[in-house]
Amino acid sequence: MHLTHLLLLSAPGLLLAADPALAPRALPNALSGGYAPTIIPCPADRPRVRDGSRISANETAWLPLRRRATVEPMIDFLTRAGLPGFDVAAYIRAAAPDGTTDFSALPNVAIAASGGGYRALMNGAGFVAAADSRTAGATGKGGIGGLLQSSTYLAGLSGGGWLVGSIMVNNFSTVEALRDGGPEKSIWEFDSSIFAGPRERGLRVLNTAGYWKDVVDQVDEKRDAGFEASLTDYWGRALAYQLIDAPNGGPAYTFSSIADTPAFQAGDVPFPILVADGRSPGEKLISLNATVYEFNPFELGTFDPTTYGFAPLKYLASNFSAGVIPPSGSCVTGFDSASFVMGTSSSLFNVFLLQNITGTTPSDSGIPKIAIDAVLGVLTDLDASSNDIAQYAPNPFLSWSPATNPSAGSPHLDLVDGGEDLQNLPLTPLLSPLRSVDVIFAVDSSADTPNNFPNATALRATYERSLSPIANGTLFPPVPSARTFVNLGLNARPVFFGCNPSALPAGPVPPLLVYVPNAPYSAWSNVSTFTSSYPAEQRDAIIRNGYEVATQGNGTIDAEWPACVACAVLSRSLERTGTPVPEVCGRCFERYCWKGETDEVDRGAQGQICVREHQNE
Ligand SMILES: *[C@@H]1O[C@H](CO)[C@@H](O)[C@H](O)[C@H]1NC(C)=O
Ligand SMILES: *[C@@H]1O[C@H](CO)[C@@H](O)[C@H](O)[C@H]1NC(C)=O
Ligand SMILES: *[C@@H]1O[C@H](CO)[C@@H](O)[C@H](O)[C@H]1NC(C)=O
Ligand SMILES: *[C@@H]1O[C@H](CO)[C@@H](O)[C@H](O)[C@H]1NC(C)=O
Ligand SMILES: *[C@@H]1O[C@H](CO)[C@@H](O)[C@H](O)[C@H]1NC(C)=O
Ligand SMILES: *[C@@H]1O[C@H](CO)[C@@H](O)[C@H](O)[C@H]1NC(C)=O
Ligand SMILES: *[C@@H]1O[C@H](CO)[C@@H](O)[C@H](O)[C@H]1NC(C)=O
Ligand SMILES: *[C@@H]1O[C@H](CO)[C@@H](O)[C@H](O)[C@H]1NC(C)=O
Ligand SMILES: *[C@@H]1O[C@H](CO)[C@@H](O)[C@H](O)[C@H]1NC(C)=O
Repeated sequence: MHLTHLLLLSAPGLLLAADPALAPRALPNALSGGYAPTIIPCPADRPRVRDGSRISANETAWLPLRRRATVEPMIDFLTRAGLPGFDVAAYIRAAAPDGTTDFSALPNVAIAASGGGYRALMNGAGFVAAADSRTAGATGKGGIGGLLQSSTYLAGLSGGGWLVGSIMVNNFSTVEALRDGGPEKSIWEFDSSIFAGPRERGLRVLNTAGYWKDVVDQVDEKRDAGFEASLTDYWGRALAYQLIDAPNGGPAYTFSSIADTPAFQAGDVPFPILVADGRSPGEKLISLNATVYEFNPFELGTFDPTTYGFAPLKYLASNFSAGVIPPSGSCVTGFDSASFVMGTSSSLFNVFLLQNITGTTPSDSGIPKIAIDAVLGVLTDLDASSNDIAQYAPNPFLSWSPATNPSAGSPHLDLVDGGEDLQNLPLTPLLSPLRSVDVIFAVDSSADTPNNFPNATALRATYERSLSPIANGTLFPPVPSARTFVNLGLNARPVFFGCNPSALPAGPVPPLLVYVPNAPYSAWSNVSTFTSSYPAEQRDAIIRNGYEVATQGNGTIDAEWPACVACAVLSRSLERTGTPVPEVCGRCFERYCWKGETDEVDRGAQGQICVREHQNE
């Protein structure tokens, strides 16, 4: 019905294109057919901002479809994982009997991919590939394939947002498909840097000047339509050429269109969430009290007690005031470009772009002067510390929650990279008791230590935040210091946190956290955050390393690892239903749960001493 309508309206050229590599993707449904938003008459049911006291009606309506769709994959996955003496099928079917709409006993699984640029995309991709039953070998011995199909939420932040966005915008493509592509082109071609641009289809040559001219033209279209542009527009458009499988990085693809795809509507794919932080007017540094915003296919907003509201994503840049569009006002669509959303979550990289542009001369980089001038032209010359912002103007939360929303009086909402508050894992939206998540697989590719491995700074930030009023009553299990993480090697293998919820303060039980840190198993996956290009072999080796971490070398490090993943999935559900824990789970929790051990001795290590290498070449 209206999907076809939008397709026809927007991009007739795409429908005529014969390139088979164009097929698998979401919807280029921006009405302009390009990057520019469009002003339209408002629908009869006028879009409005809602408060944060519940999840959206759209998500509420979608969840039963997804929860139902996870039942069979979960039975398959848990059965393969091996839980002797436990009747998986009987348990899961009883938790979600045919015809029920009450899924409260069924495990509710989330995966969260941290920031960390291309390192985070590649390492996170290794985890997702291992969790995906469609990946060759993933359901074999020692595999955890099917965990992705059992998941309800898939969250990403910054580089992890590139991963989640790229998968979701490209019709839930597999990591293998995004990596290997079709005969003419893969999507994730990182050997040619984002500054040089992609190799053209067929000819396989670089056309850096043409690429940058296109990017500048696309952003100009947005400006010509009457909307302000910030550095993030350029950054996001450039990213799109590496993440969205469509000509010119698919300028018409919107994030909200994910909700219009048949797979999403059928509940066949998880609910994607990308995270960004709010920067209050005049604020230079982002603190833990910053408002954490989420983008999902339906909305941009937050449960935090500051802004405490959600705006319909599809109608961003309409003139909302106190949550409503004035009766005489029009609506805007197409502002929520998928590339702008991915660029917002990773806006720290604006500076990366800026450094390259300012440090370069057209003759040696091939970047044309008009592109350099255009990018430099949007700099806030009064305030260079604002160059990392993504500007949402007009502000969807203008005059909304004025007593508590720091941006209520501002004509624009400034959002920045979700990792700037040190919460480099997109956990906040998954911790809301309203979402009832049972377990989060938190894949951490942060570069905390001097040699670019994580030491769980992200978890400590979220724990600290949970003690402050900004957390609005959401709980998070305590986690040890960086030194303990490093000394005990807790950053070199998976660790479970919050195994024993009765040890937590009273309140809604938070999810069990399965911390999956990036560590070298089969490759040096600790590449620097600001490396801009990766040969295909290196990309593949890092993805594979992420896979080995996720599966603990297909169970060669711990044959019970898949069972332990299954136990983590089941844990909260077993507690709720008062079901005895399978024997193997007792052993797993003994091995993987953090039970309060610490080691604070300063051993002067680089930060990553205990490397459990798994070189099987
Ligand atoms: C999206 O993926 C599904 C499942 O693989 C497939 O059936 C469908 O044809 C794909 N859609 C497009 C537009 O390629
Ligand atoms: C969200 O729900 C509203 C109200 O039921 C509906 O009109 C709208 O189409 C839904 N949006 C999406 C993207 O499904
Ligand atoms: C684990 O399985 C995957 C998929 O079959 C394979 O690519 C990888 O080499 C295996 N790793 C080990 C350590 O066996
Ligand atoms: C956050 O706000 C609380 C009060 O609401 C305050 O006690 C705390 O110091 C603030 N933290 C930061 C990092 O600004
Ligand atoms: C969260 O914040 C909102 C807005 O300040 C408030 O109405 C609500 O009661 C808070 N919820 C909890 C659990 O504290
Ligand atoms: C929003 O308000 C501004 C300022 O009054 C106006 O220029 C713009 O056209 C309005 N946008 C829409 C879509 O009505
Ligand atoms: C910018 O990127 C280009 C292409 O990758 C590279 O050749 C150039 O050295 C970079 N310039 C700076 C200053 O980083
Ligand atoms: C842990 O990471 C933080 C950065 O996130 C760093 O400042 C600190 O020095 C690290 N500490 C250790 C012991 O690795
Ligand atoms: C990766 O880790 C190894 C081992 O600590 C170290 O020698 C190497 O310098 C690190 N690489 C980067 C890019 O940090």
